[in-house]
Amino acid sequence: MKRENIIVLDFGGQYNQLIARRVRECNVYCEVVPYTTPLRDIRAMEPSGIIFTGGPSSVYESGSPKVDSEIFRLGVPILGICYGCQLMAQELGGSVVPAVSDSAREYGKTETSADVGCTLFSGIPEESITWMSHGDYMEKIPDGFKVVARSKACPNAAIADERRNFYGVQFHPEVNHTEYGREILRNFLYNACKVSGDWTMGNYKETAVEDIRRKVGNGRVLLGLSGGVDSSVAAALIAETVGRQLTCVFVDHGLMRKDEGDEVENAFKKWDINFVRVNAETRFLLKLAGVTEPERKRKIIGEEFIRVFEEESKKIGAVDYLAQGTIYPDVIESGAGNAAVIKSHHTVGGLPDYVDFKEIIEPLRLLFKDEVRELGRQLGLPEYLVSRQPFPGPGLAIRILGDITKEKADTLREADAIFREEIAKAGEDVKLSQYFAVLTNMRSVGVMGDGRTYDYALALRAVVTDDFMTAEWARIPYDVLDRVSTRIVNEVPGINRVVYDITSKPPATVEFE
Ligand code: XMP
Repeated sequence: MKRENIIVLDFGGQYNQLIARRVRECNVYCEVVPYTTPLRDIRAMEPSGIIFTGGPSSVYESGSPKVDSEIFRLGVPILGICYGCQLMAQELGGSVVPAVSDSAREYGKTETSADVGCTLFSGIPEESITWMSHGDYMEKIPDGFKVVARSKACPNAAIADERRNFYGVQFHPEVNHTEYGREILRNFLYNACKVSGDWTMGNYKETAVEDIRRKVGNGRVLLGLSGGVDSSVAAALIAETVGRQLTCVFVDHGLMRKDEGDEVENAFKKWDINFVRVNAETRFLLKLAGVTEPERKRKIIGEEFIRVFEEESKKIGAVDYLAQGTIYPDVIESGAGNAAVIKSHHTVGGLPDYVDFKEIIEPLRLLFKDEVRELGRQLGLPEYLVSRQPFPGPGLAIRILGDITKEKADTLREADAIFREEIAKAGEDVKLSQYFAVLTNMRSVGVMGDGRTYDYALALRAVVTDDFMTAEWARIPYDVLDRVSTRIVNEVPGINRVVYDITSKPPATVEFE
């Protein structure tokens, strides 16, 4: 049976992935495709609906992104958001102009009143807050459309042609600041596109298991396990399907958090697979000895990782498939690549040529992170693994500023474990996107008992973010910070001072190195 599908036509806006995630949260599968996708490809995907995203251009500029106007004759419901709304208006005979005064431009939370009789706004209050971000507005709306929402500065905040099922909103329903954004998207999907909502991780698991079984047959699969959520869930899915045909190679570089290596290993006990754990701590520490420069540390770990994996895979011999935990944001983002390199991320990029395999399999290629976690739960992976916060490939190496030694790694592990334990106890963990301890390279004077100490300062870092591109430092209650600090200086030798990082990203980054 064909899966329902919504196409998110990408005009380069900053929230495009978020739109797709929100649609998926409504149990509807969707794909983000560039606005240049040929119409025949769009038609071939048989979408139940199309969403035009926002974008940085103005529709009246020459060379601004456009669509093939035939798209409006497919008979498919369309929702235009911000730029997408203006584009639809212009293409269908309306007009869009720059706002002439500052008061006509809208950025941020805006009081908006909507016609609740319109399909899009059914079931929500007449007055609500929406999130606006536009400097252009629709001066004239196209024939057949009605204005269905307005704000003080913007008389045409939303338009609709319910006969053709075309809708346009100036605001961003996908961001949390739009009070009823989720309901508005849901209305579009369920009332206009008439979807039934067949996208659940339970369904996905069944289809994915069948697909893998068909593809792999009696073949052998090799997977490099990092301990992170993605590779663990990919491993569990394949383990569930082909059992002993799967070999997982887990390279423990000795720079994991406290007990993490054992946790990963234990999680896979329930499956009968070939599980190879390589304890490579000594080897990594030897390579890293005396290295202080962050980028060098990252490169060394990346290279050494490949070398260990290569050695292990040689022992295994030829395999049929190499499995990777690539997820949907990686797929969308590969292709964009103009950003400056702030840090070279250590993730498996491209196809490794040192492993002898016929084909690559990426069973999570269609999934967003939240979906990967849910799938992990469905597969019976333990919650500590599934809801694990992001952890960088180079591990604690980039949280020990300056040179790395085993003693420093052990010290940091203990302090980090206390921080995590207290945060969880206080129920703060669910509010935070990422939180960890960093061993600074700074020593300072303290007094403990009656004696002088000269020990390390430990930094605590906690952030809240949707996408990790930007992040805000988290407002952890003082009493929680106090407990963490007291416990760390009392329980972890070598630390006599604890500081809390109050910088957001930008200008800082999440990790210190
Ligand atoms: P930054 O420090 O760049 O971190 O603000 C953003 C997010 O990326 C994670 N991070 C990494 N993840 N390999 C990874 O897989 C890496 O080399 C790496 N460096 C940073 C970081 O933990 C945060 O979640």
